[in-house]
Amino acid sequence: GALCLYEKPGVNGAKVVIPVSILKDGTIKRIQNLGTHKDDVIVASFPKAGTTWVQEIVYLLQTNLDFSKASEKVLETRSPFLEYPYPGLDFVEKMNGPRVLKTHLPFDFLPATSGNGKIIYVTRNPKDVAVSYYHFAKMFTPLSFAGSFYEFLEKFEKNELPYGPFFDHVESYVRHKEDANLLIVTYEELSKDPADVIKKIATFLGKHLDEEDILKIVNHTSFESMTKNAAVNYEHWDDLGFRNKSEAKFMRKGKIGDWRNFIAPDRNETFDQWIADGNKIKFPFVYEI
Ligand code: A3P
Repeated sequence: GALCLYEKPGVNGAKVVIPVSILKDGTIKRIQNLGTHKDDVIVASFPKAGTTWVQEIVYLLQTNLDFSKASEKVLETRSPFLEYPYPGLDFVEKMNGPRVLKTHLPFDFLPATSGNGKIIYVTRNPKDVAVSYYHFAKMFTPLSFAGSFYEFLEKFEKNELPYGPFFDHVESYVRHKEDANLLIVTYEELSKDPADVIKKIATFLGKHLDEEDILKIVNHTSFESMTKNAAVNYEHWDDLGFRNKSEAKFMRKGKIGDWRNFIAPDRNETFDQWIADGNKIKFPFVYEI
């Protein structure tokens, strides 16, 4: 489609569907050449895997639980999206203090010196990702997807959506799972036991928190809290014209297994086959609570 290109940048043979808007100004090259800091944390993910949730958790950990700072500005400014024009790479380069950066790029596109700093990859089962991505693509005005869910699912399977192919994305990170500076978490484990995953992230970042602090983060980052929190729920997009207001909100449902409401059993069989063929590394995705 007009929004995407199939790009082959030649970095370890990695391929990805990248929105044209990102390619045209050389953003990818700038990201790969970005100077990194020891206390940088890059939150990386395929779109709709739980990025925002993990960003807010990491932001709180990196600011030693500065809840007031966390409510002062929208997450987009506190934790910049590397390949997005706002707030932009000039802003990222000037940030001081621990930087919590967001990207949807596969591993091989990250700053070349990313060994300097840490990476947290968040992933989610592809059925819920497809459902969440569909609602996002209808809601987000620059995408304004107008087709049916099954039309969208077909694009997902054909690797025609921004940041696809899904399994190449997952694989690009899982290939590095033994790297000391990479932690992989899943949306499903975070949903089932947020305290446990938050502790795991804290340990990875070298933070030692007591149970009370962990609980504060769990409460602040619950779906219910984040839905109501204007600093993380993207409601400022309404005023910027980025949301088709008749569509779902950014904080849509926050559940494991919502795909059952969109994928009928016969279509699920063919999607299962597609997953079985694509998930060559047999990543243990969880589809139900
Ligand atoms: P749904 O559309 O299934 O509700 P991303 O941040 O990567 O774009 O992912 C967005 C998805 O994560 C949406 O999924 C959103 O509702 C969900 N989400 C965001 N914050 C969450 C939270 N605190 N708890 C559970 N789900 C959350």
